[in-house]
Amino acid sequence: MNAAVRAVVRKSISSGCDAYIVREGYEGLVEGGIYIQEMGWEDVRGWLSEGGTLIGTARCKSFRERAGRLKAAKNLIARGIDALIVCGGDGSLTGADLFRSEWPGLLDELLKAGEISQTQRETYSSLNICGLVGSIDNDMSLTDATIGCYSSLARICQAVDYIDATASSHSRAFVIEVMGRHCGWLALMAGVATGADFILIPERPPLEGWEKEMANVIKKHRENGKRQTIVIVAEGATDINQNAISVSFVKDILANDLGLDTRITTLGHLQRGGPPCAYDRMLATIQGYDAVEAVLQMDPKKPSPMIAITENKLTRQPLMEAVAATHEVVTALKAKDFDKAMQLRDSEFEEYFTAYQVTTKAGSMTEAILPE
Ligand code: F6P
Repeated sequence: MNAAVRAVVRKSISSGCDAYIVREGYEGLVEGGIYIQEMGWEDVRGWLSEGGTLIGTARCKSFRERAGRLKAAKNLIARGIDALIVCGGDGSLTGADLFRSEWPGLLDELLKAGEISQTQRETYSSLNICGLVGSIDNDMSLTDATIGCYSSLARICQAVDYIDATASSHSRAFVIEVMGRHCGWLALMAGVATGADFILIPERPPLEGWEKEMANVIKKHRENGKRQTIVIVAEGATDINQNAISVSFVKDILANDLGLDTRITTLGHLQRGGPPCAYDRMLATIQGYDAVEAVLQMDPKKPSPMIAITENKLTRQPLMEAVAATHEVVTALKAKDFDKAMQLRDSEFEEYFTAYQVTTKAGSMTEAILPE
């Protein structure tokens, strides 16, 4: 996210604009004052390699209310700001689009209340907004990668490699929980990248009797000479009936049915910190750059754009269509339409899952596709 802010600031300055940051997310927009700060070129020096977000972020109740958004509009006009680039997940991006759609009405209200002048009403007649997707979960539709997901994946892989040392030395099993909310991308890709013995993800819940199947897969791996066992569980993993699968449940199967000395590791917020990987720095920079281009070129009649990456090319997608498609995945999961969820998630998701199964002789539904 810091790399994105750096790129937005520097591209804005290069394009002859004044660049501002808003501290603490929408909270800062509503509060105004010191939360909205003009930035110079040098102010973002060193931000490329910083984890987290240096400008802060916060959940904001007041921006969800029209009164909060009215204050935010007043604060922006007071600073002469007419374009907003928001980096976040579906909630933040939906908030930005709503703000834009209400903008003329908010300005009329401010004019009526004498908070802005007629000239300001005319000068700031529209608010250009653009979305950047920042999330470790890689759960936004219409883009192949979200800013942060590859750093998080790298951290998970590194952690699994470290855990492997103990697993292998002591011949132990580890059940590792990874983040992702409703999305299994991190767990799936970590499974592919570490060759985990079994993974559990929400989009491909294991069939009835999976406990036995998992035990058999792991038994076979052990018989083939593997000294360590790694099972990766997405935090949103469920069975086919939408019952959550917990790491402790998985641990009990490995310990009780296979007699393995088993430990649980919940990677937690480790996955969200530390220096971003090279891909994320690059993605955030080129997307931040393009977001400024997008707001400068924006047609007020067109839908708000979201900067995406599609088959390794920068693309601009209709923001609210991406948000709607993202919500559709969650709806499909809740409705137990897992095939639909898998397809909506990403055209390659199914193939990656198969690649995982084939290269590890693991995963669920192994019988159907795996060679003996
Ligand atoms: O959406 C990002 C994410 O890290 C999810 O993977 C996780 O479920 C959630 O945020 C954790 O949020 P919090 O830090 O509020 O516990």
